[in-house]
Amino acid sequence: MIIKKMKGLPENFLWGASTSAYQVEGANLIDGKGPSVQDIKTVPKGTSELDVCSDFYHRYKEDIALMAEMGFKTFRFSVAWSRVLPEGTGEVNPKGIEFYSNVIDECLKYGIEPLVTMFHFDLPAALEKRGGWSNRDSVDWFYDFAKILFENYGDRVKYWLTINEQNMLTLVGDVIGTTDMTGVTNKYKKLYQENHHMLLAQAKVMHLCHEMVPGGKIGPAPNISLVYPATCKPKDILAAQNYNAIRSWLYLDMAVWGRYNNLVWKFLEERDAIPEILPGDMEIMEQAKPDFIGFNYYNTATVEWDDGTGVAVAGDQQTGVTEPGMYRISGNPNLTRTEFGWEVDPEGFRSTMREMYSRYHLPMIVTENGLGAHDKLTEDGKIHDDYRIDYLRRHIEQIKLAVSEGVEMMGYCPWSAIDLVSTHEGVVKRYGFIYVNRDEFDLKDMARYKKDSFYWYKKVIETNGEDLSN
Ligand code: BG6
Repeated sequence: MIIKKMKGLPENFLWGASTSAYQVEGANLIDGKGPSVQDIKTVPKGTSELDVCSDFYHRYKEDIALMAEMGFKTFRFSVAWSRVLPEGTGEVNPKGIEFYSNVIDECLKYGIEPLVTMFHFDLPAALEKRGGWSNRDSVDWFYDFAKILFENYGDRVKYWLTINEQNMLTLVGDVIGTTDMTGVTNKYKKLYQENHHMLLAQAKVMHLCHEMVPGGKIGPAPNISLVYPATCKPKDILAAQNYNAIRSWLYLDMAVWGRYNNLVWKFLEERDAIPEILPGDMEIMEQAKPDFIGFNYYNTATVEWDDGTGVAVAGDQQTGVTEPGMYRISGNPNLTRTEFGWEVDPEGFRSTMREMYSRYHLPMIVTENGLGAHDKLTEDGKIHDDYRIDYLRRHIEQIKLAVSEGVEMMGYCPWSAIDLVSTHEGVVKRYGFIYVNRDEFDLKDMARYKKDSFYWYKKVIETNGEDLSN
């Protein structure tokens, strides 16, 4: 659709940006924090450990002041479960409770609405030892953890996100460092049982939020990308439907409707991987209602038909992995790529928003979107990241178009507020508006510098997205 009459973004649009605890905080075993699965994993070769990261734990005041300077209306951050509950259950760590309470107060001091992700890739290691999400008890573990969060922060935090990228935990958990396949004979059985427990835990926590938090709003935060067929061959269309279902609709159909997607169900049946569902589970999920959908978008995916001979070459959140007999990842020759090989597709962002809205009719907030790059600090303390400005501008333009088409968008939180450690490609893959002066292994002085994108985003926020010029 060629749009001539633009609508403009809502007045209370939540401009902000995102981080996650294990990637930004550091202080990973300090002040009573227990280890998480991220602290006990072997980090990919050539990348830094997660013990210091951006040292947000000690510098959150300075960092939030910079976010306030940009004019943030919201800040999306996650709570490290094992900082609050070092063993995952049981004894609460008062220093952990205090830390997030301080972060929340610091945000509120500047009128920044905290948007809290309850779980972002960092299950307490103690729970992993007890079987992690494979253990049915994980539903109660997460529920009890959520209760502590609502009790302590529910008076000040209105917006909650349950689980970050549950779909990526299932699809590429090995790359993110969350999946242990030792001794597993049927990976699908394990992964989709874990997935069922997470879906149930999420549903119970959505109920709980509505009971405990006055005016509280809660939603999921999967990574959603529309999947394109590589050609208009009918079989490629089927392949794209398969991947759309496996990658995205499974998670949103469950969160919104409490219904297993039929294509995914068949896929699981074929792989002898139907999860064990106890009486009452489906009712809980059907009755749980998110108030909005949070979603991370980096790019679309493109697939072709696979006759069962495709090879599942390792891939990550955005490059994807071929699923023999369902779809084969093919890449899209019409798109450019970032220097880390991720395709860039702003228009695909719009089609993703359109598709999501036409399926679920819920308000949506972008909880991640951004460009990882090797930024350079110049001698005079500048970072000229015009490529990031260009990426973000092109994506914001598409939000404006989607809003003009009637899609309800509540806010935009790109990844990331500040440089942090990538899931598997180290510190050098930078995303932030704020540069952190450290290298992969040399911590330097960790000083903060404002990138060119910092000043640009400030102006975007000031004009509520009207002025996107550089
Ligand atoms: C998302 C995650 O998948 O993408 C973040 O929610 C992550 O944790 C972000 O950092 C960017 O991915 P990467 O692999 O470049 O860090």
